[in-house]
Amino acid sequence: MGGDKYLAKKPIVSLENINMSIDDHQILKNVSLELEEGKFYTMLGPSGSGKTSILRVIAGFSQPTSGEVLFNGEKINNIPPNKRKLNTIFQDYALFPHLNVFENIAFGLKLQQKSKAEIEDRVQQILKMVQLTGLEERDINELSGGQKQRVSIARSLVLNPRMLLLDEPLSALDAKLRKEMQYELRELQQRLGITFLFITHDQEEALAMSDFIFVINAGEILQSGTPVDIYDEPINHFVADFIGQSNIVPGIMVKDFLVNFVGKDFECADAGMRPNEQVEIVLRPEDLDITSVDQGKLTVRVDSQIFRGDFYEIIAYDEDDNEWQIQSTNSVEDDAVVGINFDPEDIHVMRYGEKEQDFDARLETYED
Ligand SMILES: Nc1ncnc2c1ncn2[C@@H]1O[C@H](COP(=O)(O)OP(=O)(O)O)[C@@H](O)[C@H]1O
Ligand SMILES: [Mg+2]
Repeated sequence: MGGDKYLAKKPIVSLENINMSIDDHQILKNVSLELEEGKFYTMLGPSGSGKTSILRVIAGFSQPTSGEVLFNGEKINNIPPNKRKLNTIFQDYALFPHLNVFENIAFGLKLQQKSKAEIEDRVQQILKMVQLTGLEERDINELSGGQKQRVSIARSLVLNPRMLLLDEPLSALDAKLRKEMQYELRELQQRLGITFLFITHDQEEALAMSDFIFVINAGEILQSGTPVDIYDEPINHFVADFIGQSNIVPGIMVKDFLVNFVGKDFECADAGMRPNEQVEIVLRPEDLDITSVDQGKLTVRVDSQIFRGDFYEIIAYDEDDNEWQIQSTNSVEDDAVVGINFDPEDIHVMRYGEKEQDFDARLETYED
């Protein structure tokens, strides 16, 4: 957010106002982004939101209807995929099962008709980088999931790309392996210092792995920022709901730093709306505390609770019938009437239909 706050580093890849339609269906809407050297970027969005389409435009497999694709500041719309210094890694890694580790990694260099000595050198160097030295002769089918991932990345790296594009490489894995591979991938990216553009529909994965996230829905980038930015200050209902767990209730922005919801005024940390503008309020379940009714800011009736191991997840309703999800270390009785408490800075206020540029500009007027 607020790009000019950061030192202007030259992006490797930029998209400028990319639109893409197939038949009468607009798949990408005015997509602009910049990707800098050495960062872990994630495109996060539900299935069908346009993530793969953006990646294909960057890789050169798809042509946008309008807009520019830039590499180091130069337009590359007409450069074919194999001439772009980018490499794509797919979900199943697409390794050759009948070739061993060395042969898999050497494959691209052989196609380029490099000398035997150069291939040997280069592959050894890459094996070292991805910590697979000693496994050259190993059959692909005898590798662990993490090792396969590393071979697949090595096979791309050997061609000296400036950036790796990874289209949901972890989505077919079971939960435990997936988590291991998240660490593995993140660690590898940091060690190599190459830009990764990673795609996922899993918000936890995006929060855990990324330096910077683009949230995509219906062919549009709704919000971009660090995981903390996006979690703490979602731009709208969709983002608040999609990323993390949220209580979202309607409210009225009385004036700067004062918002009304469930019939009461609350101090808050937001500003820059019109007086009495209709807004939506986000409060995260982990920011709510259960109290007695007279100590609570709101009164709710407990509907149900589930034990989650490190907390109870409590569902309760206020007098306006808004649902409240609360994480509490103590259990409560069903049907109990209790108070809930929160701090002014836990209240996050969102405007209906606000676009990212306006949102960023508004936040800059009152945030440090
Ligand atoms: N070649 C195509 N022809 C028609 N529609 C397509 C084509 N490719 C993608 N789409 C549509 O574009 C939208 C975005 O698809 P995609 O980029 O694959 O989404 P994601 O990767 O986020 O799941 C979807 O509605 C999909 O059906
Ligand atoms: Mg996809």
